[in-house]
Amino acid sequence: TPPSQIRNFCIIAHIDHGKSTLADRMLQITGVVADRDMRAQYLDRMDIERERGITIKSQAVRMPWQDDAQTYALNMIDTPGHVDFTYEVSRSLAACEGAILLVDAAQGIEAQTLANLYLALENDLHIIPVLNKIDLPAADPDRFAKELADLIGGKPEDVLRVSGKTGVGVEELLDRIVQDIPAPVGDADAPARAMIFDSVYDAYRGVVTYVRMVDGMLTPRERIQMMSTHANHELLEIGVSSPEPIPSKGLGVGEVGYLITGVKDVRQSKVGDTVTTSRGGATEALAGYTDPKPMVFSGIYPIDGSDYAELREALDKLKLSDASLQYEPETSVALGFGFRCGFLGLLHLEIVTERLSREFGLDLITTAPSVIYQVTTDTGETVTVTNPSEYPDGRVASVAEPMVKTAILLPKDYVGTVMELCQSRRGSLLGMEYFSEERVELRYMMPLAEIVFDFFDHLKSKTQGYASLDYEPAGEQTADLVKVDVLLQGDKVDAFSAIVHRDKAYAYGTLMTERLRKLIPRQNFEVPIQAAIGARIIARETIRALRKDVLAKCYGGDISRKRKLLEKQKEGKKRMKMVGRVEVPQEAFIAALSGD
Ligand code: GTP
Repeated sequence: TPPSQIRNFCIIAHIDHGKSTLADRMLQITGVVADRDMRAQYLDRMDIERERGITIKSQAVRMPWQDDAQTYALNMIDTPGHVDFTYEVSRSLAACEGAILLVDAAQGIEAQTLANLYLALENDLHIIPVLNKIDLPAADPDRFAKELADLIGGKPEDVLRVSGKTGVGVEELLDRIVQDIPAPVGDADAPARAMIFDSVYDAYRGVVTYVRMVDGMLTPRERIQMMSTHANHELLEIGVSSPEPIPSKGLGVGEVGYLITGVKDVRQSKVGDTVTTSRGGATEALAGYTDPKPMVFSGIYPIDGSDYAELREALDKLKLSDASLQYEPETSVALGFGFRCGFLGLLHLEIVTERLSREFGLDLITTAPSVIYQVTTDTGETVTVTNPSEYPDGRVASVAEPMVKTAILLPKDYVGTVMELCQSRRGSLLGMEYFSEERVELRYMMPLAEIVFDFFDHLKSKTQGYASLDYEPAGEQTADLVKVDVLLQGDKVDAFSAIVHRDKAYAYGTLMTERLRKLIPRQNFEVPIQAAIGARIIARETIRALRKDVLAKCYGGDISRKRKLLEKQKEGKKRMKMVGRVEVPQEAFIAALSGD
C-alpha cells in the first residue's frame, strides 16, 4: 500500500470510556470481523483483560475503508489505558499520525484523558475529539462537547458524537480519520527502520513483534538486526493483522504489521527498539528507547513450600510475554523460599499474581509492596534498597524516596476532603485549576510509597467514585524515613519489616504487634511481640504462656481420644515455622500480612 493510502491512528481514553467497544464496532463496520464471529472486546485476548475490562497489551489491526475515490488501509493501534503501562502507551502513540480522543458523554474529561492527550500532543499527533456513549440517557453531549473543544482548542461542532455500542456515528468517524489524519511520510529508499511498539509471546508462533515501518522495506527471509542489542535474527514471516495474521511479501514506509523471527523470549524484541536489516542497515536508531523500570517491589511466596519449583517455572513463562516483570530468588524466615519481584505499578503486581494463581494454579502470598529507596550511609556510600532486609541498619545517614506528580480530577464539592487525604499522605500542593464550573484538577507532589498501597481506594471512596487519578515519576526526595522491625521474643521477623515515615512508625508498629498477638497461638512460655526502630522499642504486646498441658483435659480419659489429639497436634506442626524458640503457624503470618 502506498503511504498516501495509509492512516495510522490510535484511540486514547480514560478507563471505561469505551475504547474496546468502539474498536469492536469499527472491526465490524469495516467488515474485517464477520458479524457472526463478533464477540465483545475482540482485541483483548487475555482472559484477565476481558474479565476486568481493561486492556493490558496493545495490538494493531488493519481495516479497509473507502471514500469516493479509493480504498485506504486504516491501522488501528490499541493502547493500554492504565498509568502502570504509560511506557507502552507512548510507544504506541509514536507509531501513529493521529489519535481519536474518546470521552464518555456522561462522564466528561478524566485524569487519563488528559494524561493521554498530553502524550499524544508530545508526539505531534492530529487529534480527533469524539464523545462516546451518546445512547446513554445520562449523556450530556452539548456540555461535554464544549468542555472537550475548550481543552483542545476547537469548536464544539467539530466534536463527533458516537456510540460504540449501537454503532451510531462510527462511519462518520472512519471518514474523518481518512480526511483529517495525515498520511505517513518516510524515505522509501533509505535503509529499513521499523519501530517496535509491542511484542507478545504466542505459544505456537513464538514471539510476535509488532512494528511500524518508518523508512525502507523489510521482506521475509532477510536477516534483521535489533539496534539496541545488535542481535541478528532471520525474518521468518512478516505480515499484517486484520485481525488474524496475513503473511505478506514485505512491509514498506508507513505500514504497520508483525514480524516473526523464531525467538522465544520477548526480551530479545523490546518495545521501543528499532529493527533494521543486518546488511546495509541503518546506523541511527529511531528516537526514544528506554527500558521500562519497575517502581514497586514485593516478595511472592508459595503458601505450600513444595510449590517453589513450580513458581519459578511459572515466572519464567510469564516473563516470556512480559518483559517488564523482574524477579530473583529470596528467602524469608517467616515465609521460606520465594521471589523478590519488580513491577511497573500496583495493577501490574495484581495482574501478575492473578495470572500466577489462575493460569498456573499456585497458592501464593505476597508481602507488602515496597518502592525503591536510595540510602546514603555514614561513609557516603549509596545503597539501593528494594527490600527492607537490605536496609543498612545503624549506618544510615539519609534516605531518599521516589516522588510522583499526581493529577487528580474531581467534582468541586470534594476538594476539601481530597486535600485532607493528600496531606495525610505527605503530599504538597502544586496547583489547583478549575477545569469547568464543576470540575477541578488538583496537582500534588507525593511520595510514591504513599500512593501505591491503598490511596486510589481511599480516593474513590471519599469521592463516591467521582475522582480520577494519574501520576508520573518526579525524581527523588530525602525524607525522615525509618525502618520498623517486628520482633518475636527478640528475633526479627523479616517479612514484617517496613520502611515508613517516622510519623507513621508508631501506628505501623502498633498495628502489626496487635495483629500478631491475636494470630499467634500461646506457647509454653511468655512471648513478647515488639516493634522497634533500631534498638528502640516503639510498641509491645505479650502472648501469655500456656498454663495447661494439652493432654491435661484427657487425664484419665480414654486413650484413643488422647492419641487422636496428639496426631492432630503433629499435623498442625507441619505448617509451623520457627522464629527463634517460637512456633508460629504459617497461616498466622499470611493472615497478618494480608490484613485479614
Ligand atoms: P479499558 O480497556 O479498561 O480502557 O476500557 P475501555 O475504554 O476499553 O472500555 P470498554 O469498551 O470496555 O467499555 C466500558 C464499559 O462501557 C462497558 O461496560 C461497555 O459495555 C460500556 N460502553 C462502551 N461503549 C458504550 C456505548 O457507546 N454506550 C453504552 N451505553 N455503553 C458503552
